[in-house]
Amino acid sequence: MNETNSVLVVGGAGYLGCVLVEELLSRGYDVTVFDRLFFGETPLRKFRDRIRLLTGDIRCTSPAIFERASALINLGGLSNDPTAEYNPEANHQMNTVATRTLAEMAKKQGVRRYIFASSCSVYDVGVVDEDRDVLLNEESPVQPRAAYATSKLAGELELMALHDADFAPVILRMGTLFGFSPRMRYDLVVNTFVKDAFTKGCLHLHYGGQMWRPLVDVRDAARAYVAALEAPEAVVSGQIFNIVCENFRISELAFRVREGLQAKGISADIKCAFQYAGIRNYRVSGKKIFQRLNYKPVISVQESVEYMVDQIREHGYTDFDNDRYYNIRWMKLLEQVKQTIDITGTIFDMPSSKPALELTPRRAHA
Ligand SMILES: NC(=O)c1ccc[n+]([C@@H]2O[C@H](COP(=O)([O-])OP(=O)(O)OC[C@H]3O[C@@H](n4cnc5c(N)ncnc54)[C@H](O)[C@@H]3O)[C@@H](O)[C@H]2O)c1
Repeated sequence: MNETNSVLVVGGAGYLGCVLVEELLSRGYDVTVFDRLFFGETPLRKFRDRIRLLTGDIRCTSPAIFERASALINLGGLSNDPTAEYNPEANHQMNTVATRTLAEMAKKQGVRRYIFASSCSVYDVGVVDEDRDVLLNEESPVQPRAAYATSKLAGELELMALHDADFAPVILRMGTLFGFSPRMRYDLVVNTFVKDAFTKGCLHLHYGGQMWRPLVDVRDAARAYVAALEAPEAVVSGQIFNIVCENFRISELAFRVREGLQAKGISADIKCAFQYAGIRNYRVSGKKIFQRLNYKPVISVQESVEYMVDQIREHGYTDFDNDRYYNIRWMKLLEQVKQTIDITGTIFDMPSSKPALELTPRRAHA
């Protein structure tokens, strides 16, 4: 039987997930996390004894994960361009197909509300299309080109196709997140600036830093999920909401980050390069969710950077070059390790005695 206020958070061990789960617990929710644990279980340790943790893959799971759920928040799957482009098929299966499969299961289990983590990258128009360089909203036509954004938009459409009187999908198109999380990422633009300030004393701008990006702090984003969870069904069912604090040109963003760093005694130069590198460019309105749910992000880039610096120092997230903080590097490393483990079975433990196997040549991932 579903319990009221019992939330299943798919991908709850990720960068946003850890912050959201803590927010949900502080508000008295009963939380189940379902996650493949690509980044381990450690980020959940602060509240590990207060959640139910299920490990598994969204591409092959069972309705049993919904046992206690009255709502589903789906943050799972591949979460950036490089990983999506590295393995487009896995990206499609996780971000589009599994988004639908989870919805079908939820619906059958009587779980009405399904909040889906989509992305403002669906609005990407690229730096070349000056005519479309305007503030976009949820009604704007979208035609993403990149694998990641395409898979998110397709996931949205799958969910909307299942929307009816018994099933209430809600789509949150988030801007690029920034800020501290116990599952830290240094591959997101603001966090990368902070990491670069620590390691190189310099923030690097590509393409003159002229491209626009919508941004929002990870704690503000977590509050948006709570708002979508607690809003009356009639207000959010079948709706798309952008989650954006502010739109910045990357050049201005660098100056704001630098202000936050300076407040913590860290000085950094800003260096600009002008080569073209297929950069995302879009700016997006966050008005709709304010008008309908009275939700507004409140954490500025400077505040977030100051908090991030304190947390990085306090909790020792200073091994900045660790692959774990960069999704594409980490996924590639896991793949390499798996290839070795497939052969060795164990590392220091004695392997179980088996007859010698003849290995066939392995094809590299395309
Ligand atoms: N971080 C951002 O700037 C941003 C912006 C817009 C949208 N989003 C979306 O928000 C969500 C969360 O982003 P994040 O930054 O926390 O990402 P993340 O990569 O840190 O977390 C994703 C989590 O999902 C889990 N996961 C991945 N594939 C899985 C699978 N097949 N089965 C089960 N679990 C799986 C991972 O183990 C991880 O814990 C993602 O859907 C992402 O696309 C993120």
